[in-house]
Amino acid sequence: MKIAVIGTGYVGLVSGTCLAEVGHQVTCIDLDEHKINQLKNATSPIYEPGLETLIKQNIDHERLHFSTRIEDGLLDCDVAFIAVGTPEGEDGSADLKYVKAAAKSIGEKCKGNLLVVVKSTVPVGTCDLVEQTIQAELKKRNVSFVVSVGSNPEFLKEGAAVQDFMHPDRIVCGVTNDRDAATFKDLYGVFVIDDPSKIFIVDRKSSELIKYGSNAMLATRITFMNELARLCEKVGADIDHVRRGMGSDVRIGRKFLWAGPGYGGSCFPKDVAALVQTGDQNDVNLSLLKAVTSGNEAQKLYVASKISRHFNGNLSGKKIAVWGLAFKPGTDDVREAPAAKIIEELPRSGATVVGHDPQGCENFQRDFGNDLKITYSDDPYAAVKGTDALVLVTEWPEYKRPNFSKIFEAMKSKNIFDFRNQWSYPMLKKLGFHYECIGRPDDSYKVTI
Ligand SMILES: NC(=O)c1ccc[n+]([C@@H]2O[C@H](COP(=O)([O-])OP(=O)(O)OC[C@H]3O[C@@H](n4cnc5c(N)ncnc54)[C@H](O)[C@@H]3O)[C@@H](O)[C@H]2O)c1
Repeated sequence: MKIAVIGTGYVGLVSGTCLAEVGHQVTCIDLDEHKINQLKNATSPIYEPGLETLIKQNIDHERLHFSTRIEDGLLDCDVAFIAVGTPEGEDGSADLKYVKAAAKSIGEKCKGNLLVVVKSTVPVGTCDLVEQTIQAELKKRNVSFVVSVGSNPEFLKEGAAVQDFMHPDRIVCGVTNDRDAATFKDLYGVFVIDDPSKIFIVDRKSSELIKYGSNAMLATRITFMNELARLCEKVGADIDHVRRGMGSDVRIGRKFLWAGPGYGGSCFPKDVAALVQTGDQNDVNLSLLKAVTSGNEAQKLYVASKISRHFNGNLSGKKIAVWGLAFKPGTDDVREAPAAKIIEELPRSGATVVGHDPQGCENFQRDFGNDLKITYSDDPYAAVKGTDALVLVTEWPEYKRPNFSKIFEAMKSKNIFDFRNQWSYPMLKKLGFHYECIGRPDDSYKVTI
């Protein structure tokens, strides 16, 4: 099939590249000329494991193309994806200006019959809006192409995006007719050859809501566990034991039960906010999700306060190393990263901060450099040199088993704050560190499992 992908960000680039990998002819379009030039030279503008190799491979096989001009993608096109950003607007609702602009361009420039697929995360009813926008442009042009609109939200996880796209749990397709359902099956069949029932054909509104419902559920689990972890600290229970015990109930499952510094990233915060807005607009008070948002913000402040509390509220002259600036491991994406909120709090109390991240420093400096006082180190051990505390915020594999003796030697004061519960309490205590984590009090019975 001939495919255009409009918006070549984390989702558009991964989707376009993976669709090319299975044999489709794909043109990825973006307004950002710099990004498109990088891609034409087979350089990925984002860090995503395995992606750059696939881009190179598919450019070489002449299946993957890049352009800033939408008309280049729409020539003889069968399916056009809209994968532009839907950032949080001022009132919390999803800002649809990029989606509307992409729809208008499609209406203005399409050359024949087409299935337009909304892959961006959009509020219920947006496909209707996209359809109306396109139809209005077709009417102005006085052409009668059959252009229909389908919903196909994306569930990939940054850091494992290629793997997720190539081996999906499910592919949700919202349609208005059998022809579009058949096109989706044709498009995606090869990705679910093991189990074709992984393609869910539903109505468009349900499809749009499945995406928000999924993200809101995951955000709720995280916030729920963070609150339980805080209770564990007060009552002397261990959140790791609680997590294992709860997760082994098949009705609950083991995933997304880790306590931490609060969720961040480009999706959960804005998608929960947008769903709350959709509720308000429809006179449905999504009070649980309102509490999830405020609980998540409170968690970021809570973990930051652990550091200042340890220093009796006086961080003046203290040097603090932060490991992990990206919002999660495996990505250079720092949007809404918990590290930013934590780092914002530290200099308020007089501390200086040095950050390390395997991939995220450049984006962190670009997004927060003007507002946050931070310097960077390209070596995690150099980052801790002469510091009064090491704070683990993002659980990159590189940080899983560091050389703690080397860290002990390098630090001025031996304080570790592990906000991902990655390291062993008894081991660090034995080495002489003051160690704090989340929901694992130091006087609980420590089991080695
Ligand atoms: N990032 C994720 O992990 C993820 C996962 C699932 C769903 N989503 C959703 O997918 C959508 C895209 O997210 P993203 O993270 O890829 O965003 P992004 O910001 O990385 O990329 C969006 C791209 O669209 C381009 N763009 C905007 N308007 C355009 C236009 N009219 N024509 C061509 N290009 C245009 C921008 O220049 C940018 O490169 C969002 O709705 C998001 O919520 C994201």
